[in-house]
Amino acid sequence: MSKLIQTFHTTWLPDMISAAMLRLDRVHPEIQGNKWFKLKYNLQAAERTGKKQLLTFGGAYSNHIAATAAACRMIGWPCIGVIRGERPPVLSHTLIQAEADGMELQFISREAYRHKTQVGWETLYPDHYIIPEGGHNVLGALGCEEIAASLNPGPQTPAADYTHLLCPVGTGTTLAGIINATQGAEVIGISALKGATSLDDDVQALLKPGHNPNWRIFHNFHEGGYGKITPAVIDFMNAFYTETSIPLDVVYTAKMMLAFRKLALDMYFPAGSVVRLVHTGACRAIFRWPPAFYAFSTVFTIFEQLYVFLPTYRLNGFNCMKQIVRLLFAAGILILSNTTVKAQIANPPVLPNFRP
Ligand SMILES: Cc1ncc(COP(=O)(O)O)c(C=O)c1O
Repeated sequence: MSKLIQTFHTTWLPDMISAAMLRLDRVHPEIQGNKWFKLKYNLQAAERTGKKQLLTFGGAYSNHIAATAAACRMIGWPCIGVIRGERPPVLSHTLIQAEADGMELQFISREAYRHKTQVGWETLYPDHYIIPEGGHNVLGALGCEEIAASLNPGPQTPAADYTHLLCPVGTGTTLAGIINATQGAEVIGISALKGATSLDDDVQALLKPGHNPNWRIFHNFHEGGYGKITPAVIDFMNAFYTETSIPLDVVYTAKMMLAFRKLALDMYFPAGSVVRLVHTGACRAIFRWPPAFYAFSTVFTIFEQLYVFLPTYRLNGFNCMKQIVRLLFAAGILILSNTTVKAQIANPPVLPNFRP
């Protein structure tokens, strides 16, 4: 997977730190990032037990639901997605796609979803292999060990040749797998959730005896909460993409990178640190229009106002109103174009023989 490692430089990165991203977003167009690693051994276990149908859980925008539905479509297995909340009149893109992939969606109330682990799903669906929300189980973490293994210099040299590894945290499964398979480097999880300090225990529960003891989770880089999108996050994503051509997702990797910037600027990493960051996928890049577009529209708007609006204002009130509407329209376009959010078309697959 070494071709997935992309070294990057940014204006804010101190010179004495080197950084590279493990571009798991390029593993596969549909099952990208950490998703394949969390599913891999679960799918194998399902096959072994002869339960060639899956049941799993997630919210309306769950990347895990999307990836499970896509994997089941590819291998021809039926699957059920238990979805948090009542069925809305309009489904999210994630759920539309999951349904199109053949997943049967079962909506349960938020209250029932909170207590889903107390339901005997195995009894209700004895023919289904059950994967917990976000793939959070021992087999999910086992698959994620391969993420860390891919960063090692070679099978003969399992000790890391980097000093720090950063990874976003949702359920902690990916982080646990990485901790289990990393030797000699500090592993840092960046929680995407607000106040979810119990994640430390969730990770601990998946750690193997003799795991790397040098790990921690930062809980203060969620930028307002899970899935919260602020102009600062969008600006950062755009600037980072412009500098590195690495697209980030707004829920997990953007917040990990913001955390990395803050930690780097606060001198968390000693001089000479070699940092690896795991891009866990779900790429929705946010782009600005090209700078030339702003330059043109700004000059055009100023010109129009000076040479058209002001003389017309002196002529009569009706034209004045028309010009005010045009001015607001132009300002609207400028503001909108500054914050446009566009789903990025997935990168081409890097693993050509990928098959779950
Ligand atoms: C894109 C992305 N990154 C990171 C995570 C967090 O991974 P984990 O739940 O294993 O902590 C998720 C959630 O599964 C995710 O969808």
